[in-house]
Amino acid sequence: MVKKLLKQERDPSILILDFGSQYSELIARRIREANVFSLVVSNLTSIKEIQAINPQGIILSGGPNSVYEQNAPKCDQKVFNLGIPVLGICYGMQLMVKELGGTVTPAINKAEYGRAPINIDFESDLLSNVKDKSIMWMSHGDSIKNLPDGFIKIAHTENTLHAAISNKQKKLFGVQFHPEVIHSEFGMTIIKNFVYSISKCKADWTTETFLEETIPRIKEQVGDKKVLLALSGGVDSSTLAFLLNKSIGKQLTCMFIDQGFMRKGEPEFLMEFFDKKFHIKVEYINARERFIHKLNGITDPEEKRKIIGGEFIRVFEEESNRLGPFQYLAQGTLYPDVIESAGTNIDPKTGERIAVKIKSHHNVGGLPKDLQFKLVEPLRKLFKDEVRKLGKALGLPDEIIKRHPFPGPGLAIRILGEVSNEKLNCLRDADWIVRDEIKKAGLYNDIWQAFAVLLPVKTVGVMGDKRTYAWPIVLRCVSSEDGMTADWSRIPYETLERISNRIVNEVVQVNRVVFDITSKPPGTIEWE
Ligand code: XMP
Repeated sequence: MVKKLLKQERDPSILILDFGSQYSELIARRIREANVFSLVVSNLTSIKEIQAINPQGIILSGGPNSVYEQNAPKCDQKVFNLGIPVLGICYGMQLMVKELGGTVTPAINKAEYGRAPINIDFESDLLSNVKDKSIMWMSHGDSIKNLPDGFIKIAHTENTLHAAISNKQKKLFGVQFHPEVIHSEFGMTIIKNFVYSISKCKADWTTETFLEETIPRIKEQVGDKKVLLALSGGVDSSTLAFLLNKSIGKQLTCMFIDQGFMRKGEPEFLMEFFDKKFHIKVEYINARERFIHKLNGITDPEEKRKIIGGEFIRVFEEESNRLGPFQYLAQGTLYPDVIESAGTNIDPKTGERIAVKIKSHHNVGGLPKDLQFKLVEPLRKLFKDEVRKLGKALGLPDEIIKRHPFPGPGLAIRILGEVSNEKLNCLRDADWIVRDEIKKAGLYNDIWQAFAVLLPVKTVGVMGDKRTYAWPIVLRCVSSEDGMTADWSRIPYETLERISNRIVNEVVQVNRVVFDITSKPPGTIEWE
């Protein structure tokens, strides 16, 4: 299966066999930061498939298991005899040791978590230029007791006798710590040593080479057929629109469905930017009435999401029939979505992926059966930071590249309870002020998301001589790496004051502003 997905595409220089570590993706990202292409594949990838890919180096990731557990994940033992350099990280190293005849034992009372200085015992290609006593990030319960023949210990820590090992002749290496984690000083040096000096990879994974390889491939895939792209204005779909426009020009039609839940000025900005400025054909679909009508009386957040997702599909279907026929649907699927989505649907005749979901409005179920587009997903091997670089190289402005994430159902899930046009207008104005002030304070690029939420209760206030009875606005600002966990941003009081003053003065239906100081977990970023 792996080879089929990689058909006609660049093969990875470094292949990462995944044993379930939370860091497997991070290893790939770090290697790509060194401009070397790497992919994460299952630990069960067969030796035949690995040989067909013919990587220059293989990394065995960490994992939550112990190598002595009954169903502990393994890889084909032959990976150690291919003559291809192998680096085992944590569990990956322990597996290598066990498979090659060494022993691993539980580190009773000596489990090591967090920072640990390493002592370098022996000069090696792997630890070249790594400073003695530098800090590495440890996380393990098991330790190596006896090394297999041909291996030597090249570093230890206070609690771990074999913190790094090497079999120079067979080009097999192992580290008990996590060089991919940012807290590991010289972690990147170790990764570079493995990919450049040991595996002899070239630093040839760049935006330029990506474009050189991808544009002809898109042309080849699409031929003279027509491609439809649902543009949301986020960085993924915008970059994709630019990439496809450069590759197939007029064969691309973008569809922008305005469900009425966008931020202030957003639909106008998108149309002006894509259609007028860059002459990328965008069909503007005004579906505001349909969506708000469907949400009449709906207060449950899950139901709201379902209704919006369902309506999106219907509008999409109607409009694509009207504008089409289209043979291809372009999707801004990124690599983390691909890694996570097991059981990809493949057209058995052509090997192309078939649409089962519209990603930009995820959790909305499948596309109707008779809408069997083939997919164009040229970003599906890229991480988010690579998409941003690509977008920049293609000429997208910072205003799009650096924009905060925005949920598919938009402001509808930032109005708690029933959605109405009055509340939408009110929230749009408040949200505009939040972003304006955060930008003016120079904080926008340091924050993951900053936005307003409208609560459907009224509280008493006083303005001039009059008592008011109006909605409160919640200000939600968080810092995060990936949206999975988040902390509330410590916004300076002066900025908070300006935001609060402006919202209460400029947005008539609001008389109070509160600031959310909950991290995720236990809170979520959105209020829904
Ligand atoms: P929560 O609220 O679960 O959100 O902490 C995590 C991140 O996901 C974003 N989000 C969405 N993004 N479609 C999207 O593309 C959605 O339906 C959606 N819902 C939440 C949210 O803004 C945050 O960045």
